[in-house]
Amino acid sequence: MPPVSDRLPVFPWDRLEPYKTTAAAHADGIVDLSVGTPVDPVPELIQRALSGASDSPGYPTVWGTAALRDALTGWCERRLGARGVEHTNVLPVVGSKELVAWLPTQLGLGPGDRVAFPRLAYPTYEVGARLAGAEPVAYDEPTELDPEGLRLLWLNSPSNPTGRVLDADTLRRIVAWAREHGVLVLSDECYLELGWEADPVSVLHPDVSGGSFEGLVAVHSLSKRSNLAGYRAAFAAGDAAVLGELLQIRKHGGMMVPAPVQAATVAALGDDAHVEEQRARYAARRTVLRGALEAEGFRIEHSEASLYLWATRDEPCWDTVGDLAKRGILVAPGDFYGPAGDRFVRVALTATDERVEAAVRRLRA
Ligand SMILES: Cc1ncc(COP(=O)(O)O)c(C=O)c1O
Repeated sequence: MPPVSDRLPVFPWDRLEPYKTTAAAHADGIVDLSVGTPVDPVPELIQRALSGASDSPGYPTVWGTAALRDALTGWCERRLGARGVEHTNVLPVVGSKELVAWLPTQLGLGPGDRVAFPRLAYPTYEVGARLAGAEPVAYDEPTELDPEGLRLLWLNSPSNPTGRVLDADTLRRIVAWAREHGVLVLSDECYLELGWEADPVSVLHPDVSGGSFEGLVAVHSLSKRSNLAGYRAAFAAGDAAVLGELLQIRKHGGMMVPAPVQAATVAALGDDAHVEEQRARYAARRTVLRGALEAEGFRIEHSEASLYLWATRDEPCWDTVGDLAKRGILVAPGDFYGPAGDRFVRVALTATDERVEAAVRRLRA
């Protein structure tokens, strides 16, 4: 059998290892701003909900408890401004990365089908297309894509890696185009609650959707907004026909969210205070890092939302990565997200205040 992994790109993070070794040799230790992995504690109320549900001997269901579905529909209405969200419009999933990677396969896509995603993007959209044997297509402007064979259109606002936000008018125009051509829109909105100079809007908001979820699925994750990357808590919301199909497939294939994680998700979605607290931490880190990078000659593009600063010194990204690594700071090279990023680096806000201060000192030295 030809190895499936042959279809996939080289796992990019392995290429960063030598730079990590260099940065780790700094006398005061590495400041790792390369991966967007949360470092602040899981809020107490979420930990309590998880441990309170730890006596869970039976199998959970793929669709989740009624309490979880209520929490998902309620959150979509309250935080996304969606209207008329029913249980049939939500599906809990184990991690949004896992959903992104396996969704084309679960929807039965294969050779002859095309899956489109932004030219600069989270790499898993392409991985998902390749795992299914479908053709990955990178776009600059989705409405200029050839709709022939196009089945899925990934949007990602706010964007990883650029932090760019698509406004409601732009989203509405894209949704209208996709509906006209029968293309399913998958909108990865995992940074939606992390807007700084923009107020990100969901595709499920009536200003975008026109009040119908037809052809629209939003993907949400608790990893960033609630520091739950370790819990693998995520969900999809939108078109009941698509989610109903996924539910059937996943019932046969397993992929149940563990019961304690379901309980933790209910607690997390019912509380806005911890989200505000976490936002304040990131906002403070963002301000000082941005200032230090700009003082050091970096230009920051987009970055109006999300957990990243998209920064350039107008030089090849690996030169920037190498220079910063020598100063004990590790960042992600922009070409991890597509060749178009080859003169940028992505600087994550996910380090402790102490480490961010260390980075700022080193940049100013
Ligand atoms: C755009 C985007 N989508 C999805 C994910 C995956 O998040 P998770 O699998 O933790 O839900 C990430 C993680 O960095 C991301 O940046």
